[in-house]
Amino acid sequence: MNPHLRDVAIPNNWDRRGLPGWSYHSDAVLELEKEYVFRNHWQIAGHISDLPNAGDYLTMDVVGERALIVRGKDGVVRAFNNMCRHRGSRVVADSQGNCKNALVCPFHGWVYNLDGTLRGAARPRSFPDLDKTEFGLMPIELEIWMGFIFIRFRKGGPQPPVAELLKPIEAEIAHYGVAEMVPSWGIWSQTSPVNWKSVRDVDNEGYHVAMAHPALQDLYGATYFDEPFINGVSRSFATYNPHAGRRWSVAQYIKIAPKAKHLPDHLRKAWIYYGIFPNNALSIMPESVQFYQEFPLSTGETLLRGAIYRYPDETREQAAARYLAYRIDRDTMNEDVQLSVWSNESMLSEAFEGFYLSDLEYGVRTHHDHLRKQIPVLGLETAPEEKDMWALNEALRSRS
Ligand code: FES
Ligand SMILES: [Fe+2]
Repeated sequence: MNPHLRDVAIPNNWDRRGLPGWSYHSDAVLELEKEYVFRNHWQIAGHISDLPNAGDYLTMDVVGERALIVRGKDGVVRAFNNMCRHRGSRVVADSQGNCKNALVCPFHGWVYNLDGTLRGAARPRSFPDLDKTEFGLMPIELEIWMGFIFIRFRKGGPQPPVAELLKPIEAEIAHYGVAEMVPSWGIWSQTSPVNWKSVRDVDNEGYHVAMAHPALQDLYGATYFDEPFINGVSRSFATYNPHAGRRWSVAQYIKIAPKAKHLPDHLRKAWIYYGIFPNNALSIMPESVQFYQEFPLSTGETLLRGAIYRYPDETREQAAARYLAYRIDRDTMNEDVQLSVWSNESMLSEAFEGFYLSDLEYGVRTHHDHLRKQIPVLGLETAPEEKDMWALNEALRSRS
């Protein structure tokens, strides 16, 4: 069976330079990215199993926007701005929890029902004209796909509904029963001292696997390939070698991973990574699924966030394999963080002349193409003045 989902022809002559170095350190570009990339594209907030019961919630901050996802008494999962309608306080302060019957704002005590409607203000007689129906929490667009919760801060936006966006990978993922999975160890996050694009650039190509990820290379290097971004979705595919195992974690994984009888033959040893523009990835292996993503905190600081999910009725062998895969992934991530730091800091050097990308890094190029479509100033080799950036970009957008 052909392991490719889509046949991707790489052109003979393509511009191998990547985005200009200045764009990785520009505050004006970051403002454009907030506007045209982060506020209006789909983001993975978590999985429905992160909120199994009424009153369970999780929160997520993205470029100054604050999301609150909460399950109602009717079982429905909804998303709101985590912003009290009185004076804007966070309605819940922590990243995950349960709020029992209602959401009570910690500032002055306004109370919201789990469906976001305002139950009442504290000291209601001090608001003689308050119309409660006008002061519910502000909803955020939400779509659940294979159990994953996607949100979009600004309604509409350049991407279609998630189900349509991810149609090309739907049949493949459908084999895994991802919607039934449950959290392994919860949602994690950490910061990294680089521009978010440097994180994504490293993740968008497998050219570096052979050199930089000895465990992955040992596990599946010979079979690995990338399908670059097409209409916002990329895919990387590899099958592990049952005879590999120079590294301890790899040798143990291969020894312990049970035959994945719940999957069709061609997926039983597969490790698959899907990129979802602009900054999300799903990765699937026979024992688990995970999402990970990155958000800019400033031009030089990025929040990495993700979670791993497992089968609710997993066997001991599946659990052990999942743990070993996590160990391999953890090493891989630390290696990638270091690579992204070196790449990102080079762009502050006078000597930096741009990338020179291999055909095996075409995924980086296609991700950059998606970005340039939203933010056309990224196509300019020379940095515009920061104060002119916004207007120049508007002018280029209206031309395209
Ligand atoms: S800001 Fe929430 S009650 Fe005042
Ligand atoms: Fe990597």
